[in-house]
Amino acid sequence: MAILLPGGAGYIGSHTAVELLNAGKEVIIVDNFSNSKPEVLDKIKEITGKDFKFYELDYLDKEKLEKVFEENKIEAVLNFAGFKAVGESVQKPLEYYHNNITGCLILLETMRKYNVKKFIFSSSATVYGEPERIPLTEDCKTGGTTNPYGTSKLFIEQILKDLYKSDNTWDICILRYFNPVGSHESGLIGEEPQGVPNNLMPYVARVAAGTLKELSVFGDDYDTPDGTGVRDYIHVVDLAKGHVCALNKLYKEQKGLFIYNLGTGKGYSVLDMVKAFEKATGRKVPYKIAPRREGDIATCYADPKKAKDELGWVATKTLEDMCMDSWNYIEKSM
Ligand code: UD1
Repeated sequence: MAILLPGGAGYIGSHTAVELLNAGKEVIIVDNFSNSKPEVLDKIKEITGKDFKFYELDYLDKEKLEKVFEENKIEAVLNFAGFKAVGESVQKPLEYYHNNITGCLILLETMRKYNVKKFIFSSSATVYGEPERIPLTEDCKTGGTTNPYGTSKLFIEQILKDLYKSDNTWDICILRYFNPVGSHESGLIGEEPQGVPNNLMPYVARVAAGTLKELSVFGDDYDTPDGTGVRDYIHVVDLAKGHVCALNKLYKEQKGLFIYNLGTGKGYSVLDMVKAFEKATGRKVPYKIAPRREGDIATCYADPKKAKDELGWVATKTLEDMCMDSWNYIEKSM
């Protein structure tokens, strides 16, 4: 019985594929390489020493997707096939809603047709909008997302809740990621943003590498210890392991729809990140203070207790690991 990973060649998908293979699971990846490269598949094999099936297809292509379900015994699906660039989603809302929501609907319909009813969804802390309180617990109010990317996550969460209400033979796990950073310690797989990165860590790494001149720190007048934005950065390998724990839960006696924050519970500011990166890599990261970025909030970090209590999952990697591993990947790919 196999685990299907649409978008499994992407940043989070590839790291999760590694952890699933390491845990002895049979994995099938489907990807259209819209935001990833075919080489990643070989890298996953190199890291794990294990083989897996791969189909090159767009998960919106229902016929081809059905064929994958026809040809294989699939028992669970982890969906990584979402578009994720916040700025681009504002420019291309229809493309984002189509890929993220229609794609997910096609996937769920196909799963239902083949009676595969275990589903793990990659959601985001962005669904909390302006946080009701800090640290964020899973019962904090959601809504008030500021871009189509975030809204697509919010809508899919609602779709999953409605689906479960209509048919409680589904087992669904919604994972709300905080800020994934870093790379596998081998430096073979990592984050490959197209063009100039929007997110902090890949931007910092490229400044350190000299490919970008300096970092713009978006605002230093927030109500935070040093005035810059505070976030819960989580190592992508910890995040990937969270999926293995979530999957194990769906196999056990506890059935239903579950929501978990995947974060460390620690908040670091933009300047903390710059300093940590400089210390870990010995490189300078020149920066200037710039105006606030629209849609940004001051502080966002998780209360990860529910995932600890119910999944037995905790993030173990340090900020230094996150910086070292990000840098290791950049250096190897330079
Ligand atoms: C962003 C998205 C969020 C998405 C997440 C994916 C927004 C408003 N939010 O989160 O929906 O789920 O990415 O990882 O885009 N910063 C700088 N300079 C930079 C880049 C970032 O100062 O060049 C600051 C930001 O203002 C923020 C922090 O660094 O305080 C983290 O930013 P980023 O990595 O973009 O993540 P989020 O904004 O938290």
